[in-house]
Amino acid sequence: MPIEQRDKEVILTLPSDESTSVKVLLHGANILSWTIAGKEQLWLSEGAVLDGSKAVRGGVPLVFPVFGKASSGPTSTLPQHGFARLSTWEFLGQVSASPLTVQFGLGPENISDAFRKAWGFDFTLIYTIALGADTLETAMRVENTSKVNWDFQILFHTYFRIPDVDKVEVNGLTGVSVKDKVSKSDYSESNTTVTVTSETDRVYEDVNNDVLIASAGKPLFHIYRKNVADVVVWNPWVNGSKNMGDFRPEDGYKSMLCVEAGSVSKWTTLSPGQTWECSEKIKSSL
Ligand code: BG6
Repeated sequence: MPIEQRDKEVILTLPSDESTSVKVLLHGANILSWTIAGKEQLWLSEGAVLDGSKAVRGGVPLVFPVFGKASSGPTSTLPQHGFARLSTWEFLGQVSASPLTVQFGLGPENISDAFRKAWGFDFTLIYTIALGADTLETAMRVENTSKVNWDFQILFHTYFRIPDVDKVEVNGLTGVSVKDKVSKSDYSESNTTVTVTSETDRVYEDVNNDVLIASAGKPLFHIYRKNVADVVVWNPWVNGSKNMGDFRPEDGYKSMLCVEAGSVSKWTTLSPGQTWECSEKIKSSL
């Protein structure tokens, strides 16, 4: 069965290869697992909480309508990274057999009263997930169904599984403006290849190139983005991992790297009735 709907999850399986699949938790529409020929592509914490009481640590959490914590404005009353990853999405069904594609939806009726009160705008999010033989494509359509303008940020917070953080390289970021949250400084990326040797938390703004994650020169993931200009690179390293109760094993930072495609350095404004779309396609060579 290419699409299996369970109580709390939806599983897509390629008819041509049953060991190529994607598992999506309705809570957060969080992709928990993406396997190609049986090989897991994403990192999911062994301590991830999947019962809907908090955001999932791993896979692909969705960040909306705010990235991080806003200090002012209508999203400042929302928790870090917004409510999309903390709400249970509706499964809208299969929309294509080839590539195997499903959709999930989120609107005001799906979020808690507290979130409605904190951010009182009307909206519709349609999240599309397409599974290919060696690709995973995610797309988001954002619609303002309110009578007033509102602003948002959005991000696919992808936790990639990598063989060894000491060998990982991120290409395509040279010359890009960086907001570095660890050194609390702004600069232009001078390295042709970004490596990760300590706690890393950077927003690369307006990245024009496609991004490639490699391991000692061997390509792992090609990332192709549409309408998501920014790329966040995050690895919590030793202390950051220890300090997160749901990050397990503690040395799991060695086998994960978040490379997150989003529109987060600026706010996007939608007027009533207006829609906005973005997508990310990941091609794996892992
Ligand atoms: C990243 C942010 O996107 O998400 C980091 O840049 C943050 O600053 C990380 O620590 C994880 O966030 P959370 O809320 O899932 O712990």
